[in-house]
Amino acid sequence: ALVSLRQLLDHAAEQGYGLPAFNVNNMEQVHAIMQAADATNSPVILQGSAGARSYAGEVFLRKLIEAAVETYPHLPVCMHQDHGASPAVCFRSIQSGFSSVMMDGSLLEDGKTPSSYDYNMKVTRQVVELAHACGVSVEGELGCLGSLETGEAGEEDGHGAVGTLSQDQLLTDPDEAADFVAKTGVDALAIAIGTSHGAYKFTQQPTGNVLRIDRIAEIHQRIPNVHLVMHGSSSVPQEWLAIINQHGGDMGQTYGVPVEEIVQGIKHGVRKVNIDTDLRMASTGAIRRFLSEERQNFDPRKFLKQATQAMSDICMARYQAFGCEGMA
Ligand code: G3H
Ligand code: 13P
Ligand code: NA
Ligand code: ZN
Repeated sequence: ALVSLRQLLDHAAEQGYGLPAFNVNNMEQVHAIMQAADATNSPVILQGSAGARSYAGEVFLRKLIEAAVETYPHLPVCMHQDHGASPAVCFRSIQSGFSSVMMDGSLLEDGKTPSSYDYNMKVTRQVVELAHACGVSVEGELGCLGSLETGEAGEEDGHGAVGTLSQDQLLTDPDEAADFVAKTGVDALAIAIGTSHGAYKFTQQPTGNVLRIDRIAEIHQRIPNVHLVMHGSSSVPQEWLAIINQHGGDMGQTYGVPVEEIVQGIKHGVRKVNIDTDLRMASTGAIRRFLSEERQNFDPRKFLKQATQAMSDICMARYQAFGCEGMA
């Protein structure tokens, strides 16, 4: 059944687990996530960005998620809009049937200029007022996502602040978070604690902690009833990076967030963990490998099936590591 983010994350908080929120753009991604959720009996968050909506088309994206709900009636599914850049984007998603929206007011509508606190608070409050009247949950964001190692937002082609961010911008302030929540009424809050979007998060293999777990704990203490969200939580699997490059790809050496560190974050209050890059890498690697090994093949179902399996394996591993198994 379609449920709100609030319903899913309240349960996660009660039981002390975290839910991965995977980005979806096409049928194979939806299949992969639902197969893994079904195998582990986990609740599901499917999230679509504005980019997903323009790639698939509004109706296709909505119908893909409806198909998931109808095919797996025993699993609770939240249909979440990822990174709404304006109230208008959020209102369109609510109209489209999403059960949760993210108003990302940490950046201006261009998706790259850090906004003022006042702007963020106002646009987010505006979305909460309307969304809550419709039974739709709202995620806000406070602080600018970026790597504490490089000070960069990470993604060149997506959203993310342009230029190098100060350490101050890179960490959400607990007092400001408490004020933001009191003024906006958000259900969930994305916080900056050292993650960044995309594949290029860290240039060195993480040895110690790459995230500020202490900051997560501090924020959680200040706003225990608001569910904390960690964006940029891909782990950038080294085995898929190698497979991509062994089969004609050309990705640079890079490292992501270790799964164990996400698990520590969950222990300290994180309830929603956003993952996109890991599934992109698994599907690209699986397709590259299949096509280079099966050179006579020209049936797309054959290589797309490999991609679905590779993505599903990652989803399954995250459901298990984050404690979701049996929670549906
Ligand atoms: O944080 C963004 C997600 O990875 C979605 O990326 O805007 O390219 O669809 P996208
Ligand atoms: P990754 O790029 O680390 O997968 O993060 C995805 C994300 O935060 C989507 O909102
Ligand atoms: Na989101
Ligand atoms: Zn994100």
